[in-house]
Amino acid sequence: MSVSETQPEQIATARAHPNIALIKYWGKRDDDLILPVAGSLSLTLDIFPTTTTVELTEREADELVLNGKVCERGTGALARVSAFLDIVRARAGSERRASIRSINEVPTAAGLASSASGFAALAHAAAAAYGLDCSPENLSRLARRGSGSASRSVISRYAVWHAGTCDADSFATEIAGPDARMLICIVDTKEKAVSSRLAMEASRRTSPFFEAWAHSTEETLKRATKACEEKDIRTLGELTEMHAYRMHALIASNEPPVRFLHPLSYTLFDVVKQLREENGFCCYATADAGPNVVVFVSKEDAPAVHEALATFTRVLEAAPGPASHLRKDHLF
Ligand code: PMV
Repeated sequence: MSVSETQPEQIATARAHPNIALIKYWGKRDDDLILPVAGSLSLTLDIFPTTTTVELTEREADELVLNGKVCERGTGALARVSAFLDIVRARAGSERRASIRSINEVPTAAGLASSASGFAALAHAAAAAYGLDCSPENLSRLARRGSGSASRSVISRYAVWHAGTCDADSFATEIAGPDARMLICIVDTKEKAVSSRLAMEASRRTSPFFEAWAHSTEETLKRATKACEEKDIRTLGELTEMHAYRMHALIASNEPPVRFLHPLSYTLFDVVKQLREENGFCCYATADAGPNVVVFVSKEDAPAVHEALATFTRVLEAAPGPASHLRKDHLF
């Protein structure tokens, strides 16, 4: 990433939204650069943004206030943010530390991962504060270093993360797609017993199916990208649901096995299939590395499918959302 012509902002604020993968990212071929074994496709949502302000300071260490709480030095969140800012500082040729304030609007009871919106907002605000080039491509490459899926949250609506072969060509771009909704069905909001980072790494090291997964995901991604651009929502939905089953089958083949889905998650997958086959609704289920089920549904069928799913559990509805963007209302 090149240093932009403009001077650093000293203070910058950015907002980014979570995304849900239709074709999943699961497995790195480079842990440090966070290069994936295959590309992925997602939809950025319009709910639960993260807003982050980065201010350059004269202090000796970075500081982080997350949802109003000061993070102690040496704690997980601050260490991860500081390590990320070291990448930004190296690119900007700066040694200045930063004060970071971040508000994450995902309610803890929503069960949605916040690392994608979190690192996308941080990447955008830090790039502006340190004077780096803020083109979508550069922001996506930078956000990728915080959390792989964050590379897609700097992009609006449908984003394809091209696996690439090195740091320079592994980033996400927007593609056209159907007008759809995402219904987030809450199954369990407790912290997972195994983190997705560890389970992902274990799949690569221990699953006998890993090569087949990586290879077939690129094939599935090609078909899904074509369906998405042609607004063929049914084909895209079918591939989405199949790919979720494949990812969870892969994870179950880890040694030792890991299972993220709960009995209610499977029930919801069955209900979605039934709503499709018996009522003709255009709805398809997926789930990330956790038990909550997300239903990809056409805009027209969203109200009826939402109502049907709400008899089983709490359901939140999201529409396609915007790219990460800078804002003037700093959190200081
Ligand atoms: O970006 P990470 O390291 O939180 O991994 C995300 C992995 C999945 O959410 C399960 C799939 C995806 O593509 O977002």
